[in-house]
Formats: sequence, structure tokens, C-alpha cells
Amino acid sequence: MHTESESDTHLSESPNKVVDKLHRPLRDLRVSVTDRCNFRCVYCMPKSVFNKDYQFLPRAELLSYEEIIKIIKEAASFGVSKIRLTGGEPLVRNDLEKLIEWIAQVDGINDISLTTNATLLSTRRARSLRDAGLQRLNVSLDAIDDETFKRVNDVGIGVQSVLDGIENASLAGFESIKVNMVVKKGLNDHSILPMAQFFHGTGQILRFIEFMDVGSTNAWDLSHVVTSREIADLINGTLPIKPIEANYRGEVAKRWQYVDGGGEIGIITSVSEPFCGDCSRARLSATGSIYTCLFASSGVDLRPVLRNQDTGALNQELKRIWSTREDRYSETRTQVSVIRPKVEMSFIGG
Ligand code: GTP
Ligand code: 5AD
Ligand code: SF4
Ligand code: SF4
Repeated sequence: MHTESESDTHLSESPNKVVDKLHRPLRDLRVSVTDRCNFRCVYCMPKSVFNKDYQFLPRAELLSYEEIIKIIKEAASFGVSKIRLTGGEPLVRNDLEKLIEWIAQVDGINDISLTTNATLLSTRRARSLRDAGLQRLNVSLDAIDDETFKRVNDVGIGVQSVLDGIENASLAGFESIKVNMVVKKGLNDHSILPMAQFFHGTGQILRFIEFMDVGSTNAWDLSHVVTSREIADLINGTLPIKPIEANYRGEVAKRWQYVDGGGEIGIITSVSEPFCGDCSRARLSATGSIYTCLFASSGVDLRPVLRNQDTGALNQELKRIWSTREDRYSETRTQVSVIRPKVEMSFIGG
């Protein structure tokens, strides 16, 4: 007997449904608003490449907020309900609150979140983002001691400025605050347990991310990856944890709960246990290109159809892009023998 799954139910409500070649719906749009960042994390924007000679996008090339909203409205008509704002560092873009207010008014969007390094989250900024309608925050923090953290961000910023940002966000009343730690062997793996101990019992969910081969500048190598199993075993040795159910189908983090009631952690297992089978995420670059995978070499430029007077053109283009999608890079990375250029994480926003 056919039992209607949660995803079928949702799709049947959307008149304009679209699934890709692997039957995955489009649910989640991640919008990069800038390629700039005030950090130079060694695994993301190494100074050897992102230096004073690096050509960041000129302001005129960025999509306007009006253009971003047009795309979000169209995506919502296909069943997208989640929007995540990313960068680079999204808070370096002016007037982000205006964009958030507009997104909150789009029919069908019920979850608006932001990925940030939190250094620009003053009390006022946290409150204005929350007031504009931002619901959830994911904060990147890769170590809890200054020496390691400075070695990672490479711009001399200490841990306290991120903790202050988290505190300000907490006071502003966000629905959830998660902390993302990318783990790279030899760089910050000694911080796994201290980070777990620090966030244990705080209500903030710490997530460990396996270091991924995104982009072409971070000199990724499998030997730099600390696997999910290793991370879980390490934590379990001191703070016992047990696995718990996912919140929703397609959640990227595997959830674990502290046995002593100290809250939960997550591990994002893109390398050791890929999750492409449920991937319903599209990514929009700051210049208006849609990428159907974090590891794509290129995207499809939406600007021509955006500026087209024919109002159906954008809808048709999005439908065409998603219905021809067959990406599942993380499931095939070990079989891919040809090295091809990949889009940078700082450009597409993780
Ligand atoms: P929520 O569950 O809505 O909080 O979102 P999330 O967990 O997807 O948010 P976040 O942006 O914090 O993602 C955390 C990290 O997971 C990213 O920085 C990426 O490293 C990784 N990630 C997210 N989405 C994907 C994906 O589609 N593919 C792969 N391979 N990694 C992803
Ligand atoms: N592997 C895994 N995660 C990464 N991020 C950036 N580069 C990588 C990588 N190579 C993460 C950041 C942040 C989000 C935007 O992406 O730490 O949490
Ligand atoms: Fe900036 Fe985040 Fe990349 Fe670090 S990981 S350089 S904070 S975009
Ligand atoms: Fe989705 Fe590509 Fe990540 Fe797989 S590797 S989960 S297809 S973004």
C-alpha cells in the first residue's frame, strides 16, 4: 500500500511542484548576499589567495534586494519554505534587515535563518535582525582558546568577540542558536572536547562539521578529515552521548544527546556518511547564479530571465534547472577521477 510521506503531502499542496531527476523536491534556498568576509579562515579564504590583489565582486554586480525577493517568491511557489542567508559574511552587507523584512512577507516562507561569524552582532544589530523577522542563527566558531581560534581565522580576532555576539543574539531572543565548528586534523581537532565542554548545558547546539573538499583553494586532503565516528567516540569518552532522531528529513546534522541532560550536539558527516539522497537545497550566489550543489563547478545565471519582461520566464528557468538536476557529489567524490574547478565556499556560502 502506498502511504503518503510527509514530503508528498507538502508537495501536493504546492500547485507548481518540481522534483529533480532523483525525485528530490526543492525545499530550501540558501542565499549568498556577499562574497566578502572580515575573516580569512585558513580552510575557506586563505590569505595566499584572498589578499589585497584579490578581486571581490564590485557592488554593481550584486543582485539588488528587489531581485533577490523576486527569486525567493518564485522559489516559494515551488514549495521552498526555508531561506538561509549566507556570505562570505552576510552581516557585512548593508541594510540586511530590509531584505529580511521583505522575505518574512513572502507567502510560504516560514523559516528564515542566517549563518555568520557573529563578530558584527552588537546588541543593537542582533535586536534589529530579530525584529526584522530573522528566526535562527548559526554561528561559526572553530575553537574556544584564542591561540587556536586566531590561527584559524588568521586576522587576530579572539574568541570573546564571537561569544559576545552569541550572548547578544541570545538576549535578542532568537528561536535557536547553533554553533558550527569545522574540524580539521592538526589545526583544531584538539579543541573538540573543550568546545563540547564549553557549550554543554548552554542550550546552544554545537555541531561539528567534517572538513570538506569545497572549492579549489583549501588544499583539502582526506587525511585532514576527523570522521564523525572519531568525534562521537572522543566526546562520549568524557561526556556520554546517545544518538537521537533527526528533526526533519534531509537534516544535514546527525543528532546526539548528552545522557546527563546537558543538551544536544550534531555532527555533519558530509565526507564519511553523505546525505545527498535527501538534498533539497539550492544555492543562489550574490551575483544571481543558481547552484544545485555545493560542489558544482558552475551555476546558471538568472539575471537574463530576471530582467526579462515576461513574468513566466523566471518560473520556467527555475523549473528547468531543478528538474534536470542530478547532483550527488558527496556520494561520488571517491569515484571522481577528473579534478575540476569547484565554486569557493566563500562565494556560495556553505
Ligand atoms: P539548519 O538545519 O536549517 O540549521 O541548517 P544547516 O544545518 O543546513 O545549516 P548550516 O548552514 O549551518 O550548515 C552547516 C554546514 O553543513 C555548512 O556549513 C556546510 O559545511 C554543511 N552543509 C550544509 N548543507 C550542505 C549540503 O547540502 N551539502 C554538503 N555537503 N554540506 C552541507
Ligand atoms: N568544510 C566544511 N565546512 C566549511 N565551512 C567553510 N569551509 C568549509 C569546509 N571546507 C563552513 C564554515 C561555516 C559555513 C559557512 O561553512 O565554517 O560554518
Ligand atoms: Fe568567513 Fe565563514 Fe569563510 Fe571563515 S568560514 S572566512 S568566517 S565565510
Ligand atoms: Fe546536496 Fe551536493 Fe551536498 Fe550532496 S554534495 S548534499 S547534492 S549539496
